[in-house]
Amino acid sequence: MAYLAFAPQSVAVITGGASGIGLAAAKRFAALGMAICIADLDQERLDGAVAEIAAISPGGLGDVMGIECDVSRRDQVEALEAEVRDIFGGTDVLMNNAGIELPSNAIDGPFENWQRLLDVNLWGVINGTQVFAPGMIARKRRGYIINTGSKQGITTPPGNPAYNVSKAGLKAFTEALAHELRQRESCSITAHLLIPGFVFTGMTARGRIEKPQSAWTPEQTVEFMLEKLAADDFYILCPDNDAPRALDEKRIAWAAGDIIENRPALSRWHKDHAEAFKAFLEK
Ligand SMILES: NC(=O)c1ccc[n+]([C@@H]2O[C@H](COP(=O)([O-])OP(=O)(O)OC[C@H]3O[C@@H](n4cnc5c(N)ncnc54)[C@H](O)[C@@H]3O)[C@@H](O)[C@H]2O)c1
Repeated sequence: MAYLAFAPQSVAVITGGASGIGLAAAKRFAALGMAICIADLDQERLDGAVAEIAAISPGGLGDVMGIECDVSRRDQVEALEAEVRDIFGGTDVLMNNAGIELPSNAIDGPFENWQRLLDVNLWGVINGTQVFAPGMIARKRRGYIINTGSKQGITTPPGNPAYNVSKAGLKAFTEALAHELRQRESCSITAHLLIPGFVFTGMTARGRIEKPQSAWTPEQTVEFMLEKLAADDFYILCPDNDAPRALDEKRIAWAAGDIIENRPALSRWHKDHAEAFKAFLEK
């Protein structure tokens, strides 16, 4: 029952759907016979992605659309929702997946970079959820809101504070959303937090053409996500070829332990605690 939305007659909207994890999800959902709308920034890239998705979709181009939409812009997200409703009748699966990394987002980094990261990675998800959820709930069909977070939003490693803040905010938002949805009477929409490991995509390629050994492919990530959605998991914590689940669990437990044990912030990277962390990993 829980899995019913991933089937023909269902509609999926995927932001950041013209590449990487979003495009892999769009193709996988299309293969299930779902109608697909991908939203992204550039119409030319969208058109290319739509052609790839339509080649897989049993309904071809009639079941796939690509709409230019900047998720940080509320008006554009509203227009996206209206167009999907007009053409496909509504939305069953919303994947708030668009995200960016910017090179310079240190604590004292440029204001514009901080603002853009938060606008896209955090506000994009809030916009998508607030604009789409009422119609999805009113549809009274089984549906999913899947927000793409990051391990960096959980263990918040040094180096990318604005990105970490955006993904930590997204995690808190999605947890609250899951709670609110399950409190609502006769609501069949559930929320889920996708936490990819290292995935070889446009965001992480950095000039590389070949997938590094440690990375997963976007397709592996989406397959894992579907497995976990079928089990109704909220936290979809993906491993990669370097970080198995057991290692992630220890890193997450250590980060939470900083508060409980009254250690310094980010003690995993603190010279006085590095040895203790290493020992903890080996335990
Ligand atoms: N690749 C990884 O290792 C990894 C790890 C953890 C989390 N993530 C997250 O996964 C999600 C997908 O990233 P990806 O790795 O597939 O990267 P990607 O760059 O291949 O795809 C991201 C897509 O989002 C689009 N986008 C960016 N800003 C947008 C905006 N304002 N409005 C609409 N679309 C916009 C981009 O044009 C791009 O097509 C992101 O949220 C990212 O933070 C990725």
